[in-house]
Amino acid sequence: MISKEENKLLTRTGPGTPCGELLRRYWQPVALSEELPVGGAPLSVRMMSEDLVLFRDDGGRIGLLGIHCSHRGTDLSYGRVENGGLRCLYHGWLYDIHGRCLEQPGESGGGENRDQIRHRAYPCKDVAGAIFAYMGPGEPPLLPNYDFLDASRDHLYVSKIFHECNYLQANEGNIDPVHLSFLHRFLENQDGRYRGVRGADESHYNLVARNSAPLLDVELTTFGARIYTVRKLENDRQYLRVSCFVMPNLSAFPGQTGGEGYSVNWHVPIDDTHHWKYTFIYSAGAPLRKDLVNRERSELGPDYRLIRNEANRFLQDRDAMQSKTYAGMGSGFQAHDAFATASQGAVQDRSEERLVSSDKALVAARKLMEKAIRDVQEGKDPLHVIRRASENRFPHFMVISDMIPSDSDWRQYAKNLEAEARAKI
Ligand code: FES
Ligand SMILES: [Fe+2]
Repeated sequence: MISKEENKLLTRTGPGTPCGELLRRYWQPVALSEELPVGGAPLSVRMMSEDLVLFRDDGGRIGLLGIHCSHRGTDLSYGRVENGGLRCLYHGWLYDIHGRCLEQPGESGGGENRDQIRHRAYPCKDVAGAIFAYMGPGEPPLLPNYDFLDASRDHLYVSKIFHECNYLQANEGNIDPVHLSFLHRFLENQDGRYRGVRGADESHYNLVARNSAPLLDVELTTFGARIYTVRKLENDRQYLRVSCFVMPNLSAFPGQTGGEGYSVNWHVPIDDTHHWKYTFIYSAGAPLRKDLVNRERSELGPDYRLIRNEANRFLQDRDAMQSKTYAGMGSGFQAHDAFATASQGAVQDRSEERLVSSDKALVAARKLMEKAIRDVQEGKDPLHVIRRASENRFPHFMVISDMIPSDSDWRQYAKNLEAEARAKI
């Protein structure tokens, strides 16, 4: 449980709020690349309660500007893309991607004072199928050099999903490994499905159903926290999963490519009661399997909204709960997670929660966030803001889904894998 004040501190992300200031110190996904094709229309986007327009100029450069024209506030997302910028339809002012006003064609002489206009503008990068923006002050930090952001397109699936709740509770779901044994449980054998565990002869889904009270441990790192989940199983085996909480609003976990890759959920506030979950599914080994990609897509309708949603009670089927799935909400996990987190409330009231020992990862993550908020308030860079190329390497960003002998020291096992990864760079 945390106080109502702490809850506000961690969940309010509009301009000028402490957490909003923290999130703005990092590059954040603002759209999918597929939403902004070359020659396409500008896109109206809302990020952390700011209304913005994302566009590609006629040279292909990406700009993110305040949506209301600096002149008299007309919506720039309806504007014309031409002459090196975005032109407002009302009186023709033209802005470039840096927010400079290039033309004021309704003024004699083209607008003598137009150079004084500094329209709100944020730098953008198009990387790995997503467009990232830096909305903070000063020099932008480096975009973290995670492996998944460098993957070729046949090894990476990228999409986003609309969530009707605050970003924080959904990210807390990613670092809560116990829910895998319940919310996502199948009642039928899943050996036909992707196994997802290195060294195992059966599916991850069967394994998590057999031990629903795993041992949990949390280790702090330079990017956030690493979460160890150990499930002791019969036949002298233990199932080790390692996932990561990455400051300030994303997580990496084994997911559907466990054993040979990982998934990342990156929760970007639209405002305090809605957010986009950017999903990256990465395979480090073989190209991504088509059936996996198709299953992900099949959960989404137009506009990146889930087909199963609150309005239709996630199409819950009580008969299916007897024989097929624990939740009766189909076999896709995105709907399960959307149900569990959105139904906590638009902003979960954490002063009413009763945490238990298996919630230790999310407690650690909240403490990291609170410390980072204080650091920003004191004028310091918060954890995982990267300025130097030598720091922009992540061999310790490890996601593990491995079956190991029960007498094996799982912490040492993970350390050995980390040492191997460090030796490769
Ligand atoms: S309101 Fe945009 S040019 Fe006048
Ligand atoms: Fe989940």
